[in-house]
Amino acid sequence: MKDLLEQAFDSEKFREMGHRAVDLLANHLAKVAAASGNVVNAEGPEQEFEYWSEYMQQPHGDDMDLMTQFVGRAIHLHHPRYMGHQVCAPVPVAALAGLVSELLNNGMAVYEMGPSATALERWIIEKTAIQMGFPNGGGFLTSGGTLAMSTALLAARARQLGVDSLQTGTAPQWAVMGSSEAHYCSARACHVMGWGQDGFVVVPVDRLFKMRVDLLDEVYERSVAAGRTPIAVVGSACTTSTGSYDDLSAIADFCNRRGLWFHVDGAHGAAVAFCPELRSRLSGIERADSVVLDFHKLLLTPALATAVVFRDGANSWAAFEQKAHYLWDSARQGEWFNVGRRTFECTKLSMSLKIAAIWRAYGTELFAENLRRVHALANCFHALLSQDPRFETAVAPESNIVCFRLHTPELDGPDADGLHVRIRKDLVASGEFYIVQTVLHGRVWLRTALMNPFTQETHLRELLEKLAGFGCRDQKIE
Ligand SMILES: Cc1ncc(COP(=O)(O)O)c(C=O)c1O
Repeated sequence: MKDLLEQAFDSEKFREMGHRAVDLLANHLAKVAAASGNVVNAEGPEQEFEYWSEYMQQPHGDDMDLMTQFVGRAIHLHHPRYMGHQVCAPVPVAALAGLVSELLNNGMAVYEMGPSATALERWIIEKTAIQMGFPNGGGFLTSGGTLAMSTALLAARARQLGVDSLQTGTAPQWAVMGSSEAHYCSARACHVMGWGQDGFVVVPVDRLFKMRVDLLDEVYERSVAAGRTPIAVVGSACTTSTGSYDDLSAIADFCNRRGLWFHVDGAHGAAVAFCPELRSRLSGIERADSVVLDFHKLLLTPALATAVVFRDGANSWAAFEQKAHYLWDSARQGEWFNVGRRTFECTKLSMSLKIAAIWRAYGTELFAENLRRVHALANCFHALLSQDPRFETAVAPESNIVCFRLHTPELDGPDADGLHVRIRKDLVASGEFYIVQTVLHGRVWLRTALMNPFTQETHLRELLEKLAGFGCRDQKIE
């Protein structure tokens, strides 16, 4: 009789469960690809907690039951009526690579704990850097766009204020500039560096939700006069709410003139570097000092998988460099393979295998095809909305994101925001669609990120009819 540990590590049991797990997921994929069943679990958080609390106390039955229940109750990103947050429906081969990564658990902080993962990571970073226009670039993979932003801005601080800034800390007299539409991770990074609320200096946006680059000098000077000297500017490529691309060339000019670090938050939109028809949106990115790109957003990779790339690869050491190390040649140029010296993480998922699996199986053409498809869907959706007098849109899409509102005299009234919040809630509660909401110019807008390349025009039309139905019903209730 095998003891518990022997049972848990039994390779034949793993084989048998693995086949069943793949069958479960393949059946799930086939089902949602046919747009069958709900996109989203309609239960609220309290009911869901109750369900699982009860479930976990039941006697252990079939090994696969937990996973089967989990799949059934999850939000289904592969469903064509998933149109919500910017997380992709991953390509199955990358999920299989994830399974391999997880079982091997190569920890990566030092080369010896992840030799292949480390080498593949370098290969991916070098290729990604070239896509950004950085022939001498370098960088690393890290756990998400938010952590990546902090790492890049720590590097900016070290290069702008000196390598001692990490060791000694810095007074709250410095700041980073970015637009009012920049993702909150920019401001959070400034807070984490101890610069408080005023550490992130907001540049207003224009009516297309792009940074007002004509105001950069004025905002900079006002900030200096108020005792806050900006050391860097964050350009959004693109913004989260509306998918608007800042004018990166103009920001690069400004940074050049003022001697500032130029960081591009391309967590979502820098992916278009992989699509020749869309790449011009990034014009000027090749002049950035650092760029963040999430593979788990538009590049079909399971979360988390984020690249931080630096135009000068030597700067990829800057975030956590300390004086003594800085003097050692090995810290600057060598030991590229001990990734933990450059990343927040010590132990880190070997995320490179997931990206490499896609690259190897389909090449970057798969990225390009996905980008073309989801951008075309956003244009199609915008056209449908524009032709329909029941709706209005915030702005023509530059990315795969579309923000819109119901537009009738009743819905333009004082409670219009509350009504939109309720309509979205009802829609999600129906389980049939998943969309999100945002606030633009102080008003609530419905928001779709068309992440799933298998969403079709018919699904978009169905969404509009469903929303219009909710709108009419709510007007009557009013
Ligand atoms: C522009 C932008 N930056 C950063 C992030 C944060 O990325 P992550 O969710 O990977 O931490 C997002 C997420 O939506 C984003 O849209």
